[in-house]
Amino acid sequence: MKILSLESSCDETAAAVVEDGRIVLSNVVATQIEEHKLYGGVVPEIASRRHCENIIGVTEEALEKAGCRLKDVDAIAVTFGPGLIGALLVGVNFAKGLAMAADKPLIPVHHLRSHIAANYLCHAQLKPPFLCLVVSGGHSHIIEVKDYTDFTVIGRTYDDAAGEAYDKAARVLGFPYPGGIYIDEAAKHGNPKAYHFSQPKVGDSPYDFSFSGLKTAVVNLAHNASQKGEELNKNDLAASFQYTVAKVLTDRTIQAAKDLGYHKIVLAGGVSANSGLRTMMTDVCKQNQFELYMPELKYCGDNGAMVGAQGYYEYLSGNIVKMDLNACASLPITEAVR
Ligand code: KG4
Ligand code: ZN
Repeated sequence: MKILSLESSCDETAAAVVEDGRIVLSNVVATQIEEHKLYGGVVPEIASRRHCENIIGVTEEALEKAGCRLKDVDAIAVTFGPGLIGALLVGVNFAKGLAMAADKPLIPVHHLRSHIAANYLCHAQLKPPFLCLVVSGGHSHIIEVKDYTDFTVIGRTYDDAAGEAYDKAARVLGFPYPGGIYIDEAAKHGNPKAYHFSQPKVGDSPYDFSFSGLKTAVVNLAHNASQKGEELNKNDLAASFQYTVAKVLTDRTIQAAKDLGYHKIVLAGGVSANSGLRTMMTDVCKQNQFELYMPELKYCGDNGAMVGAQGYYEYLSGNIVKMDLNACASLPITEAVR
């Protein structure tokens, strides 16, 4: 079954054709990052406009690269939430138009579900159940993936998402938006023990996170240094920050796996590209004899192929919608459609 899949939840306009949820026939991403960089973050109004401009070209290219035409695909899948509402609406309305014009089933896909499904594109043998750490610019969750469309969130951030903390810390260190990748690079040349940051426990669950205190600690260090006219060692600060984030994420995920009896751990979302997190998780999973699955770097950030992967399993579970599908800015992962 071939699915044409569309993603426009934030600052990438993306389309792909995916076969049976596992085989990527094409994957085209038009990123807007260079433009949002000028403002130090995503400007929602600009994002919506660029999606409008790019979505037809990206879709045509995805179909062409997959060697098919609209009539050859079996269904259309689209991200309908969570995300920026104006950005989501572009993908949702475009997908509705295509589905109606070509008389194809329309499949709504939750953005975090699709980040998890990115792993199905890279690991042919991977199947639920497993425990997943989803870390992106907007979310940090530990999720029990009981089946392809059955999820229970057991840990979440109380404030900033991991990616958000990365981007804010990067900004104060003078790196461009989005800063995660720049901190990752600087951290490779720094000492992770140079600064000590605490790792707070929060909330009702031992698997919850809080990153705003860590972000504030980095901001304060940077401001104090600049007030005193001192030079900060950015590499050391980046390495210490990265070590702390990776340690908190790894420790809580591993604890959850032990407590709940999971031996299979999966990483997902933009921050799963982080080299410190990947290395620490690899080492700790080896020590505990857990299987670890991570997406290839090209599938960590937002893309259309992951939407096609999850779209296939949504379709098999009967999640097909009519023309009344709406976009949802906030949407729990437990809601397949609203
Ligand atoms: O999943 P994603 O592409 O978009 C959302 O759904 O939010 O995640 C974007 C986030 C940004 O905060 C970005 O800085 C972060 O992922 N990110 C990284 C790395 N690459 C991307 N964070 C740390 N290290 C990286 N290598
Ligand atoms: Zn995302």
